[in-house]
Amino acid sequence: MSMKSILLKSFGGVENLFIGTCPKPVPKANEVLVKVKSFALNRADILQRLGRYPPPPGDSDILGLEMSGIVEECHNNDLFKKGDRVFGLVGGGAYGEYCIIQQQHLMPLPSHMTFEQGAAIPEAWLTAFQAFHLLAQVQPHHSIMIHAAASGVGTALIQLAKVSESTKIIGTCGSKEKEDFIKSLGCTHTINYKTTESFVPVVSDITDKKGVSVIFDYVGSKYWNQNMKSLEMDGTMVIQGLLSGASVKDEHGADIGSILSKRLTIKGSTLRNRTNEYKTGLIKQFESKCLELFQSGQLKPIIDKVFDYTEIQEAHKYLESNANKGKVVIKSFNF
Ligand SMILES: NC(=O)c1ccc[n+]([C@@H]2O[C@H](COP(=O)([O-])OP(=O)(O)OC[C@H]3O[C@@H](n4cnc5c(N)ncnc54)[C@H](OP(=O)(O)O)[C@@H]3O)[C@@H](O)[C@H]2O)c1
Repeated sequence: MSMKSILLKSFGGVENLFIGTCPKPVPKANEVLVKVKSFALNRADILQRLGRYPPPPGDSDILGLEMSGIVEECHNNDLFKKGDRVFGLVGGGAYGEYCIIQQQHLMPLPSHMTFEQGAAIPEAWLTAFQAFHLLAQVQPHHSIMIHAAASGVGTALIQLAKVSESTKIIGTCGSKEKEDFIKSLGCTHTINYKTTESFVPVVSDITDKKGVSVIFDYVGSKYWNQNMKSLEMDGTMVIQGLLSGASVKDEHGADIGSILSKRLTIKGSTLRNRTNEYKTGLIKQFESKCLELFQSGQLKPIIDKVFDYTEIQEAHKYLESNANKGKVVIKSFNF
């Protein structure tokens, strides 16, 4: 049996993405076959398209880390049945007409949510949830700074901070429009990195010279030294992205002295290469803490733009242009 899918001719630019056919996956024990209605884009898709982020062994080499749809077939599992509306996290394969997923990595799609909204949640929100609650263990008295705050992950972090009653939520981003947007989501302070030479003095003013308790960084090299200066004593930084690169190119080198003198904790993580067991535990915690908040409207997936699957090349270009506020979502083959 075959299915339609968005496939890659070879690694490189968006022109390599095409609609073709490939074998329809067959679920094994503990797996579910989902008829995909919608999926969302991630930076990881761009890197994979460029040949710089291969899927972990055992995962589909079709692009796509998150999707929503309808259960088509279950194999030896008890959590879902054919016809259920679901959404979930996969190690690959969401760009296909059908997608295989571990049953424990699927969540029931709340009745008030559309398939586009469901597809916009798993990767960004699980990444943000993991960073906020498991890695940084943010407490209400903590002041926090979120870099790339208008991104899919950033817009989820702002909302998690807001419902956790963080009183100082500083967001950095690259335009006035994005500043206004992240403020509307809950940032108490915003910094436009394109018009601010260094965020260090701004953070110092906002925190009465103390520095922030926690930084969520997705930018990497160009912010390293400023981040070191902006953290308070015993502060924590979680690094989950390296949008500006991984080597610090400062004439004075990389400041590692602050880690020692301020007793800083630096943590890094990627979600995709975590074990199935880890992802299962994370998803369970996320479901129990957050699904009700989505039901009540206190949390919401932020969708910037929805494209049709035939516009996949335009959608990749749009994400790469840094234009989006929140997620870029695709209506897939079965929409
Ligand atoms: N570790 C994990 O498990 C994991 C999982 C998911 C995502 N991530 C990472 O999380 C980050 C956000 O992902 P996403 O999908 O939410 O991103 P996204 O929606 O595509 O947004 C990324 C934003 O980052 C900003 N940006 C890009 N390059 C930049 C640079 N050189 N300096 C400063 N800002 C820059 C841009 O906004 P501005 O207009 O504000 O510049 C861009 O719109 C990415 O680094 C991604 O790789 C990590």
